[in-house]
Amino acid sequence: MTTHLQGLGVYLHWPFCTAVCPYCDFNVYAAHKNKASDADWLTAYRAELSHAHKLRPHGQVETVFFGGGTPSLMPAKMVAAILTHIDALWGLAAGAEISLEANPMSAPRPHLQELAAAGITRLSLGVQAFDDSALKFLGRTHNADEARGAFSAAQAIFSSASFDLIYARPDQRVEEWQTELDAALALGPQHMSLYQLTLEPDTPFFARAAQGKLIPPDEDSAATLYEVTQSQCAAAGLPAYEISNHAQAGHACRHNQAIWQGGDYVGIGPGAHGRVTIDGQKHASLAEAQPQNWLAACQADGHGWQLQKLDDKQVSEEAIMLGLRLVEGRPLRALAEAGFTPDAARLKALQNDGLLVARDDVLQASEKGRLLLDYIIGRLLA
Ligand SMILES: C[S@@+](CC[C@H](N)C(=O)[O-])C[C@H]1O[C@@H](n2cnc3c(N)ncnc32)[C@H](O)[C@@H]1O
Ligand code: SF4
Repeated sequence: MTTHLQGLGVYLHWPFCTAVCPYCDFNVYAAHKNKASDADWLTAYRAELSHAHKLRPHGQVETVFFGGGTPSLMPAKMVAAILTHIDALWGLAAGAEISLEANPMSAPRPHLQELAAAGITRLSLGVQAFDDSALKFLGRTHNADEARGAFSAAQAIFSSASFDLIYARPDQRVEEWQTELDAALALGPQHMSLYQLTLEPDTPFFARAAQGKLIPPDEDSAATLYEVTQSQCAAAGLPAYEISNHAQAGHACRHNQAIWQGGDYVGIGPGAHGRVTIDGQKHASLAEAQPQNWLAACQADGHGWQLQKLDDKQVSEEAIMLGLRLVEGRPLRALAEAGFTPDAARLKALQNDGLLVARDDVLQASEKGRLLLDYIIGRLLA
């Protein structure tokens, strides 16, 4: 069993957005529902960080990820105070990667400058589309020009800048997506997260699809869109390093990479997940999702966490499920340390089907295989 005594990530969740998008099922709430003061939030975040440190004190913090929701709505002073607290507890490693997710409507240049001064090194902007009618369809409150403006400010201010796009939208033709992707690549991003639209249960989009009012591309069209995305990004110098993530060399998101490699990270804030090794045993943490309940738990107990010890089977399954998302795959030795050794006959069959590659002691999904990960994992774990 690997013990992660070194190197730690911190994920911190801000659960509010100015408007909740009709496709999104993250743990998010409309910002006007936030009834607590900034001071209350900061006290709660600090308390939960201190609790996490008591349980998992080893190693410096290598990466911090402010995710959401829309953490660009957080005052820069709160972000700075949280980073100071993390530094006081574990120590922030020299050259730590400190990411923050932003919405173009809450990312004016002065605020981005304050966030950089607070310690943010990497900004990830939710653009979703560079097409105004698509943005309207997605229920976004910004247009493409506003998104371009926010991204150009982010590029000037942060050492790394990324944006998210959603494709495989209803009626999206391959040529239209290729043109949009070309325009996106022309902005010179160091990193892009390109997600296919997913219809999540309990979202307005899901309800519209159930009524036949929203028809997503069929599997074949979605696969074609995925394939052209891979080749177009690779040709532009941003190959995929994970199913949905593309980066120039040296600009992969270290925080998420470490998670996919099975590293430890503490999850702070409402609904946040974490993975921490305590006394050599991997634990999952899950925080109370409702902001008011989470704040109340932090006030009463110093944290909103439920901690669960993961058994050997859970650890090994997670190692293979996360590891195969990475384009570079995982060393067989690392998978074996996490308790996973593939069955030789099943491995051979998946290799023969062109879905898995095993070479130089590394297990890797092929490009075709990355589209069929659920199937591969099912076969490997059967
Ligand atoms: C926390 S948000 C990013 C920052 C900010 N909240 C925003 O949207 O501007 C994370 C990303 O998840 C993606 N996402 C959320 N729901 C999705 C869905 N149903 N299908 C595909 N991508 C989705 C979007 O690309 C979004 O930018
Ligand atoms: S996509 Fe971003 S802005 Fe929209 S609801 Fe989800 S987290 Fe909030």
